[in-house]
Amino acid sequence: MASTIFSTSSSLPTAVKGLDCNTYKPTLGNLRFIASPNRKSIAVPSSSSPAPKPLFPVVKATSDVPVKTGLSDAECEAAVAAGNVPEAPPVPPTPLAPAGTPVVPSLPLSRRPRRTRRSPALRAAFQETSISPANFVYPLFIHEGEEDTPIGAMPGCYRLGWRHGLLEEVAKARDVGVNSIVLFPKVPDALKTPTGDEAYNEYGLVPRTIRMLKDKFPGLAIYTDVALDPYSSDGHDGIVREDGVIMNDETVHQLCKQAVAQARAGADVVSPSDMMDGRVGAIRGALDDAGFQHVLIMSYTAKYASSFYGPFREALDSNPHFGDKKTYQMNPANYREALVEVHEDESEGADILLVKPGLPYLDIIRQIRDNSPLPIAAYQVSGEYSMIKAGGILKMIDEEKVMMESLLCLRRAGADIILTYFALQAARCLCGEKR
Ligand code: PBG
Repeated sequence: MASTIFSTSSSLPTAVKGLDCNTYKPTLGNLRFIASPNRKSIAVPSSSSPAPKPLFPVVKATSDVPVKTGLSDAECEAAVAAGNVPEAPPVPPTPLAPAGTPVVPSLPLSRRPRRTRRSPALRAAFQETSISPANFVYPLFIHEGEEDTPIGAMPGCYRLGWRHGLLEEVAKARDVGVNSIVLFPKVPDALKTPTGDEAYNEYGLVPRTIRMLKDKFPGLAIYTDVALDPYSSDGHDGIVREDGVIMNDETVHQLCKQAVAQARAGADVVSPSDMMDGRVGAIRGALDDAGFQHVLIMSYTAKYASSFYGPFREALDSNPHFGDKKTYQMNPANYREALVEVHEDESEGADILLVKPGLPYLDIIRQIRDNSPLPIAAYQVSGEYSMIKAGGILKMIDEEKVMMESLLCLRRAGADIILTYFALQAARCLCGEKR
């Protein structure tokens, strides 16, 4: 039933597979042509006299298409005007209610909202929100290895070999209309330092992978993560001072170099997820100075200090080695504060505003949608993904339906694009494919 709830991109050749063609039958074949029941003298043959040849042939309800009479339009109209009306199926009887159903007068309602939900055709016509594979950005974990390593806390997700498994996964996603990815690297411990300098190594895992992907798939939109945590020996998104303080402006300096290295490799969208103050403006300036005016900035505008990131940190082995991220990521209790971040990111030149996590923060997505004209991204994070997967594996919920509903709800709240580990699975579902 996916096609009745979620519409697909019409440019996809497979997009209509979800439609149940078997249930679509032309109704013409069910019409029967007989004489009019209320003009008996003309139409209905009496039993005593020989039956007159009917003007319209009687067509049985079971036959597919009524035989044409060869009459002109004028003759058809004249026949009807004379009372010789073609027969249609009888008025259907009122369906029976179960015994014991109370007999009540109908409620005097001027509006019955259930009317527009009566049939699949009506429901599809009045559907307010749609979702298509083009709305998805597929987060992919990469590593230096050649094998794909399963991520225990995220069933179905792997750390992909940057030259092997990654290419196959990207090709599969493109096959079903997902043409945007975001890369997350698992960096060898030996390369991690307190100042995260591997983040801007032009020959590092991420820039190298971007160049290879752009070579193979020139049309692919590549998003990158800008933050120090995969490269930090402290597991934090910024440089940690002796007293545990995450240094803001010094970190921003590193992030600018990281963003420029990614842009030089061919990244289309750089995405600062670090939550340092002022990093969007600084990165914009650094990109422009280096000649990358065309590269977009997707700012993690409202990124909350959330426990829903747990599986991701396992995937990248990027748990903070001490403390938490509460001095830079937002307090989950705060709503108005998101608008402070929106105003800063807008004035600093962000192209896309991101909210993270997704489903528990629909109110934040809606607030930003109502307060900014900029495109909005929602990140359905690792914990959200893993909960749905676990529920499905345990057969507590219907995984596919819950997956599609959660994605549709993110769109309804106001997200233009969704970063989701379900991107491939959901796009296959929208295209009518089953895994
Ligand atoms: C780090 C980053 C995190 C995620 C994306 N970028 C983790 C964190 O902030 O600790 C989480 C994504 C997820 O949970 O799926 N800059």
